[in-house]
Amino acid sequence: MKSSKGNNPFVFGLTQKENAFTNRTEEINQLHQLFSNNINCILVSPRRWGKSSLVRECAKVLKNKEKKLQFCFLDMFSVNSEQEFYQEFATQLIKANTNKVQDVLSQTGTYFKKIVPKISLGLSPESSVSLSFDWQDVQKHKSEILDLGQKIAEQKKINLVVCIDEFQSLSRFDDPLQFQRSLRAVWQNHDKVSYCLYGSKRNMMEHIFNNRKMPFYRFGEFIPLQKIEEKHWIPFIRKGFKTGDKNISTEHIKWIVEKMDCHPYYVQQLSYHVWNTTIEEVTQEILDECLNRIIEHNAWMYEREVEGLSRTQLNLVKAIINKEEQLSSKYTLAKYDMGTSATVTKNKKILEQNDVIIKQNQQITMVDPVFVLWMKQRFDLNRY
Ligand SMILES: Nc1ncnc2c1ncn2[C@@H]1O[C@H](COP(=O)(O)OP(=O)(O)OP(=O)(O)O)[C@@H](O)[C@H]1O
Ligand SMILES: [Mg+2]
Repeated sequence: MKSSKGNNPFVFGLTQKENAFTNRTEEINQLHQLFSNNINCILVSPRRWGKSSLVRECAKVLKNKEKKLQFCFLDMFSVNSEQEFYQEFATQLIKANTNKVQDVLSQTGTYFKKIVPKISLGLSPESSVSLSFDWQDVQKHKSEILDLGQKIAEQKKINLVVCIDEFQSLSRFDDPLQFQRSLRAVWQNHDKVSYCLYGSKRNMMEHIFNNRKMPFYRFGEFIPLQKIEEKHWIPFIRKGFKTGDKNISTEHIKWIVEKMDCHPYYVQQLSYHVWNTTIEEVTQEILDECLNRIIEHNAWMYEREVEGLSRTQLNLVKAIINKEEQLSSKYTLAKYDMGTSATVTKNKKILEQNDVIIKQNQQITMVDPVFVLWMKQRFDLNRY
C-alpha cells in the first residue's frame, strides 16, 4: 500500500497555513491601491468566506513589494471594553513597529505627552510587551492614543495599515456610539494610516458603516468579499492532491467545488477529508462518504437552526433552495405556504439578518451549502 507524502495541504478553521491560499489577486491589488493611498477599507462577507485570510495574505504579499507599507493587526474578538481596546490598540501598534525592547522603552514615551503609559515586559521580550494606561487619563485624552498610528507613521516615514478584525465587537462596549464618534473624529485626520476594518457579523458591520446616522458612515471603501470561483479552485485542489502523490480527476474536483458552492471554508474542509481518505485515486465512493460525514457532523446545528424558524420562514427557505424566482407571486406563495407577500418580505429580512440567506445583485442564495444538502436529505424538496 502506498502511503501519502507529507501533511494534508488543505486547511480549514482558524489557522492560515503556508500555501493554503488561492487567488484573491484582484482583491489584493485593490487593497494594495487603497493602502498605498492611505484610504480606509471595510471588508464584509458572510462567515468563513475568507476576510481574515485575505488581509493576512495581503500583508504578506505587500511586505515584499512595498517597503514603506507596514501592517499592524488587532483582533477585537476578545476585547470586551473600551478600556481594553485602548490598551490592546496601543500595544499592537508599538509591537508591530518596534523590534527591540530598548526601542520600545525609549520610543514609546515620545508618542505620549499627557498620558503616561505603563510598559510591561515579560520574560520572552518582544512577544510579551504590553501597554496599559490609567483609565481616568485615557478618558480625558483619548485622542493621544487614537493618534498613535499617525504619529508612528510620521516619525518612521512609513505608511501604516491598521487591520482590525471583528470590529463589530465594539457593540459590547458601554457606549458604542460615543466610542465610534471618538474613533472617527481622530482617524479621519490621518493621512499616513489606512484603517482596514472587517468582521464576521455582516449585518452589524453594515449597520456601522452603511447607515447615514452612524459615525462611521462612508469611512472608507466598502468591499463586499465574494466567494472564490471554480477556475481558481481547480489548480489549487489538483496541486494539493499531487503533493501527496494522489490522483484526482478534474471532474471530481468540480464535484467538490459544486457541492460546496465555491464556499472557501467548505471547499477546504471537503478537500481535506477526501485527501485523508484517499490512498491513490479519488473515487466517487470516497467523495460521497466524505460529504456525508460533513453533513452528519453539522446536523445537530441545522436541526437547531430549523427549530428556530417559523413555518413560513422554513417554507421560504425551501423555496429559495428550489431556486424559485418569483417568491412573492401568488402561485409560489400558495405552493410553499409562505403566507402573504408582506410575510415573505419580512422573513427575507430576518433570514438575511441571521446569515441564512444573502442577497447579491438582486439574487437571493443560501449562505451555507452544507445546510442546503442537509435540507435536501431531510425534506422532500422535489415534491413541490
Ligand atoms: N483565498 C483562500 N484560499 C483558500 N482557502 C481559503 C481562502 N480564504 C479562505 N479560505 C478558507 O476558508 C477558511 C475561513 O477563512 P477566514 O477565517 O479567513 O474567513 P473569515 O471570513 O474571516 O471568517 P469569519 O467571518 O468566521 O471570521 C480558511 O480557514 C480557509 O480554509
Ligand atoms: Mg475572520
